[in-house]
Amino acid sequence: MVPKHIITTLRVPYFMIKIALIGFGVVGQSFARVLSQKQQGLKDKYGLDASIVAISGRSKGSLLVKEGIDLEKLLTSFDESGTVESYPTGIKGLDSMKTIKESGADVVVEVTGTNLETGGAGLPHIREALGLGKHVITCNKGPPALAYNELKELADANGVKFRIESTVMAGTPAVNLGGETLAGNRILGFKGIINGTTNYILTKMEQGGDYDTALSEAQELGYAEADPAGDVEGWDAVGKVVILANTLMGAHLKPSDVEREGITGITPAMIEEAKGEGMRIKLIAQAFLVDGEVKAKVSLERVSMTNPLANVNDTMNALTFTTDGLHDVTVIGRGAGGVETAHGIISDLIAIYR
Ligand SMILES: NC(=O)c1ccc[n+]([C@@H]2O[C@H](COP(=O)([O-])OP(=O)(O)OC[C@H]3O[C@@H](n4cnc5c(N)ncnc54)[C@H](OP(=O)(O)O)[C@@H]3O)[C@@H](O)[C@H]2O)c1
Repeated sequence: MVPKHIITTLRVPYFMIKIALIGFGVVGQSFARVLSQKQQGLKDKYGLDASIVAISGRSKGSLLVKEGIDLEKLLTSFDESGTVESYPTGIKGLDSMKTIKESGADVVVEVTGTNLETGGAGLPHIREALGLGKHVITCNKGPPALAYNELKELADANGVKFRIESTVMAGTPAVNLGGETLAGNRILGFKGIINGTTNYILTKMEQGGDYDTALSEAQELGYAEADPAGDVEGWDAVGKVVILANTLMGAHLKPSDVEREGITGITPAMIEEAKGEGMRIKLIAQAFLVDGEVKAKVSLERVSMTNPLANVNDTMNALTFTTDGLHDVTVIGRGAGGVETAHGIISDLIAIYR
C-alpha cells in the first residue's frame, strides 16, 4: 500500500502538445483567451500541457515562439496594438503555410473563414498540415463540407487525427456525439435547427415582427452579418448538414447535392397560419435514407409543438439523431459564438491527447 503522504504529493506527469493557430479573428482570439484560462486546469486534471507556439492571423500579424507563447502577455499586447507581432520576442511575419511548416507544432488549429465553394485558405492549410503528420482541429466548415473523406484518408495515412466538432453547433456536442458517444448505434437520420441566425429571425417573427425588422435586429445584435445571404438563404445549414451526413452516415454528399430553401420567402401570414394549427415554422436541416441512399435537405417545416425542436427558440440550436438502438436522441445548446466554438476545439484537443 502507498503511504497517504506520498499519494497527496504524487503529480500527474505533463505531456506537452504544441499548437499552431491559423486565423486570429473572433474564434482564434477566443480560443487563445479560453486556453489561457484553462491551461492550468488541463495540466492538473489531465496532465495535458497545451501550448500555442505559433499564430498566423493575416492582418493581425504572425508570431512563432518555439518554447511557447505566454498567452496572458500576448493578449495584453494584442488588445493594445491589434497585432500579435507586438509580442516582445519570437519570429514575426511568416505566412500561414510557413507557420504550419516551421512551427514544430503537433496540432494545427485552423480557424480561418468559411468558403463553401472552394474550401478557401483552410483547405490547403489542412492538406499541408495533415501531409506533414500534424493533427488538425478545425471549426471551418468549408474543408470538411467539400472534402471530408479525402482529408480523413490523408489523416489516416499519416497516422494523425482530423477533428471537426465545432463545425456544427460550435461546442455543443454534435459531430462527436453522433460519431463517438453513439458509436454503438446506427444513425438512420437526423433533423435539426443548426443555424442560430435564422432561428432568431423566425422567433422574432412569431412574436409579431416582419422579416425585415427581425433581420435588422439580428444584424444590430451581431447575430447576422451585413450580407446575411449565407445564413438566410440556407447555405450555412447546407454546409453543416453535409458534414453530419458524410461523417455520421457514411454519405458522399457535396453542398450542391442538398435541396435548399432559406427563410427569405417567409411571411407573418404563414407563421400565423401555422400558429393557429398548433405548429411552429422552423428551418430544419435533415438527412434521411431513401432506398439505402442518404438524402439531405434544408427547408422550412411546420413542427408540432410536441416536438422538442419546436421549443428551441432565439439563437439556440438543436439536433435530433434517429438511431437503431436508442431511437431519438436530442441535444439542445448554443450553436455559435467565439467562446462556445473555442470549447469545441478544446474538447477535440483533449480527444487527440487521449
Ligand atoms: N464565430 C462563430 O461563432 C463560429 C462558430 C462556428 C464556426 N465558425 C467558423 O470558424 C471560422 C472562423 O470564424 P470567425 O468568426 O473567427 O471569423 P473571422 O472573425 O472572420 O476570422 C477569420 C480570420 O481568419 C483570418 N485569415 C483568413 N485567411 C487567412 C490566412 N490565409 N492566413 C491566416 N489568417 C487568415 C482572417 O484574417 P483577416 O483579419 O486578415 O481577414 C480573420 O482574422 C469560420 O470558418 C467560421 O465559419 C465560427
